[in-house]
Amino acid sequence: MLIQKIAPYSSADFATDVRAGLTRPGQKELPSKYLYDEVGSALFEVISALPEYGLTRADGRLLRQHAEQIVSGVESPVLVAELGSGSGKKTRWILEALSRRQPTTYFPIDISPTALAQSERELAQIEALSIVGFERSYLDGLLAVAAGRKRGEHILVLFLGSTIGNFDRPAGEDFLAEVRRILMPGDALLLGTDLEKPIPQLLSAYDDPLGVTAAFNLNLLARVNRELGGNFDLAEFRHFIRYDERERRIEMHLRSRCRQTVDVRKAGLSVTFKKDETIWTESCHKYKGEEVVGMAERTGFLSKAQWVDREWPFAQSLLIAKEEPG
Ligand SMILES: C[S@@+](CC[C@H](N)C(=O)[O-])C[C@H]1O[C@@H](n2cnc3c(N)ncnc32)[C@H](O)[C@@H]1O
Repeated sequence: MLIQKIAPYSSADFATDVRAGLTRPGQKELPSKYLYDEVGSALFEVISALPEYGLTRADGRLLRQHAEQIVSGVESPVLVAELGSGSGKKTRWILEALSRRQPTTYFPIDISPTALAQSERELAQIEALSIVGFERSYLDGLLAVAAGRKRGEHILVLFLGSTIGNFDRPAGEDFLAEVRRILMPGDALLLGTDLEKPIPQLLSAYDDPLGVTAAFNLNLLARVNRELGGNFDLAEFRHFIRYDERERRIEMHLRSRCRQTVDVRKAGLSVTFKKDETIWTESCHKYKGEEVVGMAERTGFLSKAQWVDREWPFAQSLLIAKEEPG
């Protein structure tokens, strides 16, 4: 696989974001994109295999069962660009179905080089498939793919795993509108969204008894220690989640077990935590199927089809770029 690298962020950006997030008034925050270093990407793969975390399996089941219908709903010839591609495991079903129809180029876009390397291992054997990875943020990667398309070629964008749920709802819609502006009429977006389900089921999905999700979350502090000269004592922070019923989202936090001061040398930061104060590290919004259709229509897409997994409510929506962006 060829990998086009334009570092999606520098060590200085990381330091700036850590400083801004930990000194903001009120709720302290760290951006979720920093969860995915080498350790974080490996832990996310383990989370995907946990019995409590049905999301990835539901997403994969839908792709496997409906791959032929999905690709037949997309105009040819088509390039495939995947935003936040991760290991690419589930993408196999779409790529195999497409490459039976035409030689296919797949552009995984991910800020994590570990994820890109995993996707190459996973998908390199598929016949008639070329892979060109972009180590970039979502929209920078998609812009690069769109800039390289030839006349008459369409783009199928994959945004799977309910990664859109990491955005607040208004920001998620703005993001879809940005994606639409990069696309041309007739291009397609396959959007995977986790649907609302009983709260206890969600709580155990994000706080598994083995502690893998806790390790994934705590690794963010370990990463600050490794890369920015921080002195977080990991034993003094706990993985903590809650479901916000009004916002319909799981929130993932790290809670300080005591009053403590932490230094982060390369961010020029000394920050005090009160006992039980939290750092908010990720949100995972949950949707209704019809809500996804509404979001698509408002942002310049036509909802062509939607498939829902009944075992673990999850929707796969095939959206086609309309003539006019939203
Ligand atoms: C929740 S995981 C989902 C992975 C995969 N799509 C799946 O469904 O299993 C999110 C992926 O997006 C990547 N990511 C997070 N923020 C990103 C950003 N701003 N730009 C590009 N990739 C990002 C992470 O490295 C990670 O691989």
